[in-house]
Amino acid sequence: TEAVLLVGGKGTRLRPLTINTPKPMVPAAGVPFLAHQLARARAAGVEHVVLATSYLAEVFEPYFGDGSAHGLRLTYVHEEEPLGTGGAIRHAARALTAGPGDPVLVFNGDILTGLDIRALLERHERAQAHVTLHLTRVADPRAFGLVPTDADGRVLAFTEKPSRPEEIVTDQINAGGYVFRREVIDGIPADRPVSVERETFPQLLAERAVLHGVVDSSYWLDLGRPASFVQASADLVRGIVHSPAVPGEPGEFLVLPGAHVDAGARLSGGTVVGAGAHVAAGAEVAGSVVLDGARIEADARVHASMVGTGARVGPRTVLDGVVIGDHSLIGADNELRDGARIWCGTAIPDAAIRF
Ligand code: GDD
Ligand code: MG
Repeated sequence: TEAVLLVGGKGTRLRPLTINTPKPMVPAAGVPFLAHQLARARAAGVEHVVLATSYLAEVFEPYFGDGSAHGLRLTYVHEEEPLGTGGAIRHAARALTAGPGDPVLVFNGDILTGLDIRALLERHERAQAHVTLHLTRVADPRAFGLVPTDADGRVLAFTEKPSRPEEIVTDQINAGGYVFRREVIDGIPADRPVSVERETFPQLLAERAVLHGVVDSSYWLDLGRPASFVQASADLVRGIVHSPAVPGEPGEFLVLPGAHVDAGARLSGGTVVGAGAHVAAGAEVAGSVVLDGARIEADARVHASMVGTGARVGPRTVLDGVVIGDHSLIGADNELRDGARIWCGTAIPDAAIRF
């Protein structure tokens, strides 16, 4: 089986994590997030993955190479100008070997899910669908693609990020994973931007193509915002969602080789501490991501936060739900909370920010 992974987005909602690194290469549970998606695809029997790259495209291949170290074959297809989700799928299809009637898996590059990929492929075959969509239910669907279905799973409509209240007719959303019949991909217009959500799916429905929805209740998270990215990493570390790519056994924390955690520090809640990072005595780090070479100084308290590569969190400083950009230096006795984001390379003096 073949798959296309959409990894070309700019990741603006994840800034400053995505200033130096494209979203799929930001580490979750110790490895670039993309490694988890590749491992899960591999485990489902996928043999060839085409990475549809655009933003910061050059960083993928040096890390993943030809894919052999990950048990599959990888091909890189780069868009000079971003072509949107549909345009990217169409553009990536040049690297596929699937025949016109064969199934092709397509995944958004920022989704963590426990979906049974084989089961999705089987449902696609059974429904004889043009496209089969992985759907999930969420409390607030407004930020997603809304996908109502009938009792047999046939898709009735596709409304991307509805703006009017009367458009909110379901809590079923597009979970960002599809099976396409190859010839449907070849029918997407080439070499101009196309949104699969705003253009291709509505058009296929208007043409009475068979779009089949599979509502799945397993783990699902879109990592597009910092809070959900940190949550995903912690859930991977704790084994709440399984990925063969996590470099360790499930537990309350994961410390990568070359990290130094003082015996008097406390790690919990699925925290990961990157290579070369230091956590000093008396520091408490819970449910957080500490990237390579970062320093958490004595008696600091870090909760549900992301500390960038080479950044420093000063003594007694409190972080709760924040992102510290790469190489930023946060002085002692600061208090940062509730979605604060510190840009890369910023210096904050001692006791400068308090509540
Ligand atoms: N190659 C390429 N080129 N990839 C792109 C481009 C592009 O021009 N634009 C976006 N992508 C990739 C992103 O990197 C991401 O992996 C995926 O396409 C989806 O883009 P997002 O920007 O993350 O979209 P979203 O989260 O707002 O909405 C999408 O995902 C939701 C589920 O999380 C839609 O598919 C919604 O319908 C869906 O509900
Ligand atoms: Mg997204």
